[in-house]
Amino acid sequence: MRINFHFFVILAPAVTMTLGATYQRSSQLTGQSFLDAFNFQAISDPTNGRVTYVDESTAKADGLVSVANNKLTLRADYTTKLSSSDPGRKSFRIQSNSQYETHVAIFDIAHMPQGCGTWPAICAFNLLWSEVGANWPNEGEVDIVEGVNDQTPNKCSLHTSSGCTMPSSRSMTGTVDGTDCDAYDNGNSGCGVNINDNKSYGPQFNSNGGGWYAIERSSSYIKIFFWERTSGSVPSDVSSPGSSINTSKWGTPAAYFPNTDCNFSTHFGEHNIIINLTFCGDWAGSSSVYSASGCPSTCVDYVNNNPSAFKNAYFEFNSLNIYQ
Ligand SMILES: *[C@@H]1O[C@H](CO)[C@@H](O)[C@H](O)[C@H]1NC(C)=O
Ligand SMILES: *[C@@H]1O[C@H](CO)[C@@H](O)[C@H](O)[C@H]1NC(C)=O
Ligand SMILES: *[C@@H]1O[C@H](CO)[C@@H](O)[C@H](O)[C@H]1NC(C)=O
Ligand SMILES: *[C@@H]1O[C@H](CO)[C@@H](O)[C@H](O)[C@H]1NC(C)=O
Repeated sequence: MRINFHFFVILAPAVTMTLGATYQRSSQLTGQSFLDAFNFQAISDPTNGRVTYVDESTAKADGLVSVANNKLTLRADYTTKLSSSDPGRKSFRIQSNSQYETHVAIFDIAHMPQGCGTWPAICAFNLLWSEVGANWPNEGEVDIVEGVNDQTPNKCSLHTSSGCTMPSSRSMTGTVDGTDCDAYDNGNSGCGVNINDNKSYGPQFNSNGGGWYAIERSSSYIKIFFWERTSGSVPSDVSSPGSSINTSKWGTPAAYFPNTDCNFSTHFGEHNIIINLTFCGDWAGSSSVYSASGCPSTCVDYVNNNPSAFKNAYFEFNSLNIYQ
């Protein structure tokens, strides 16, 4: 393998893509079954957001989680004005009960949270609820969907322990935004890839009816794919997920993270899937980022005083299909 890799690099400057594989479905999650496969984490936000993550009974009582027509909706509170002594806007952070290494997960998303100050994420890493932070980032983190303050496009990224980098040129449709995955370098910005499609995030994603995100994690690469709802090139095993898939037919990924300069067996472990929404905090609320987004006032002030601005701060999932 190593010899082949060097051979490739001499012939072509871009790291070419490894073809996909076939997988069998292990979970088909919609509505209630999606909710049952996850648990709520009422923890303090490790990213220092203006948020209160609630437990499941509070989420139900406050209408922050709902199931209808086989869809799962997760939202933040949009009726309560907060005083500065309140701990933060109520929101959700859910974590899959199962952990995954080699797998494919296809998220069919109808809507994602939007609004100034919002920072939603769908990511994968290893943090059991009782040991938050304990071993991060030693088992790696993959951010599939992430952004702040409605700023498109979506950024996919990895965050790892030291000694993991990504080639600057590789076979993907997205644009490199950092090649050093070490969480302790560059203020934990990670090795990011911006998706080359403004409908991949925020209000533009939502007004287009959303779309599909998929992660394929093998022992030698991580690929992230995105298809707009209205794209004419959605693979049929993504738009109508069945019992098996063949990712070799999915074409060039939006983001490609090969193991050429990153030993996956020492940088990535078993991952839970995490879906969360915070406000402000380390990224969305940094004063330069928040004001550059064209958002009003200060982030915390805006989030405290404008509950109705968060009426659209919700995820609506049509389904999550997992293959192994
Ligand atoms: C979601 O949780 C993970 C782990 O704490 C974190 O890395 C990520 O930034 C969080 N995202 C948000 C929006 O809080
Ligand atoms: C996304 O929008 C920005 C700002 O309007 C624009 O400069 C950029 O070309 C757009 N990108 C794509 C891929 O359409
Ligand atoms: C998966 O798709 C690739 C590319 O079209 C094809 O070569 C391969 O035979 C397919 N695998 C299976 C098991 O169908
Ligand atoms: C990756 O790390 C594992 C575990 O330490 C080791 O066995 C393997 O040889 C390493 N692979 C490479 C290509 O260095």
